[in-house]
Amino acid sequence: MAELRLKNKVAIITGAGGGQGRAAALLFAREGAKIVASDWKAESGEQTAAQVRDAGGKAIHIAADVSASADVRRVIDEALQSYGRIDVLYNNAGVGYSSSLSMRDILKTPEEDWDRVLAINLKSVFLTCKYAIPEMIRTGGGSIINTSSIAALIGGEDAHAYTAAKGGMISLSRALAVEFGPKNIRVNCICPGVIDTPMVEPVVGPLKNANRPFRFSPIQRLGTPDDIAYCALYLASDESSFVTGAVFVIDGGVTAR
Ligand SMILES: NC(=O)c1ccc[n+]([C@@H]2O[C@H](COP(=O)([O-])OP(=O)(O)OC[C@H]3O[C@@H](n4cnc5c(N)ncnc54)[C@H](O)[C@@H]3O)[C@@H](O)[C@H]2O)c1
Repeated sequence: MAELRLKNKVAIITGAGGGQGRAAALLFAREGAKIVASDWKAESGEQTAAQVRDAGGKAIHIAADVSASADVRRVIDEALQSYGRIDVLYNNAGVGYSSSLSMRDILKTPEEDWDRVLAINLKSVFLTCKYAIPEMIRTGGGSIINTSSIAALIGGEDAHAYTAAKGGMISLSRALAVEFGPKNIRVNCICPGVIDTPMVEPVVGPLKNANRPFRFSPIQRLGTPDDIAYCALYLASDESSFVTGAVFVIDGGVTAR
């Protein structure tokens, strides 16, 4: 029988209460990882941890806001108390179209919304990496997976704060890959296309209801959370041990046009 792909690894997943984060938590656990499922929505995060446990896996939930330093510190501390090490840090939490914050062009974006989107979607990576990397160095290495977006690769009419945060994430990931590669810490980005989660429901909901092929992508469907989780699984596992500073575009071909 094949070895489990994440056997004995401990994975922190932020934004694990829904969408792509929950899919990754369930998949990673099936492949043998112990899951630290974090979300600022306590009930959804706990549901994810319970689903992992119900399926026979190991998981805890820690309620935390990824933009708050003290919360992030607590996630790292409690992960270490529970499981003793951190092998995988999956920075998946983010806000987008479904949030109350403006996702419009800069002329229509209030300054406080710009700051909040940048804090949740980019400063969060600074905080989690700042506190997790020393622990990864202590135990001999790790894999950091950052969820960027195709918005970082192509310009758009709206979502300018979001786009800036996701672009910054790619640049920061490359810099961290260079600095911490010698410590056996790999840092990669995933750029999802349009994935069927609550985040994009306000935008894609009407298209879905029209019951026509999704022509926005050459594959002509929306992505699923599992489409992304399988890429994250590869990056979390030792199968990708020569892969760092890379950007994985999982978008059904949208950016190939
Ligand atoms: N859905 C898409 O089409 C799409 C496309 C490109 C990139 N992304 C990115 O994928 C990631 C996952 O999003 P999703 O599609 O699963 O959406 P989602 O809304 O289902 O999941 C996001 C999760 O992050 C959590 N979260 C938000 N802000 C948080 C905070 N400050 N602290 C802790 N948790 C927080 C939410 O509660 C939610 O559970 C996000 O970073 C998003 O920007 C999504």
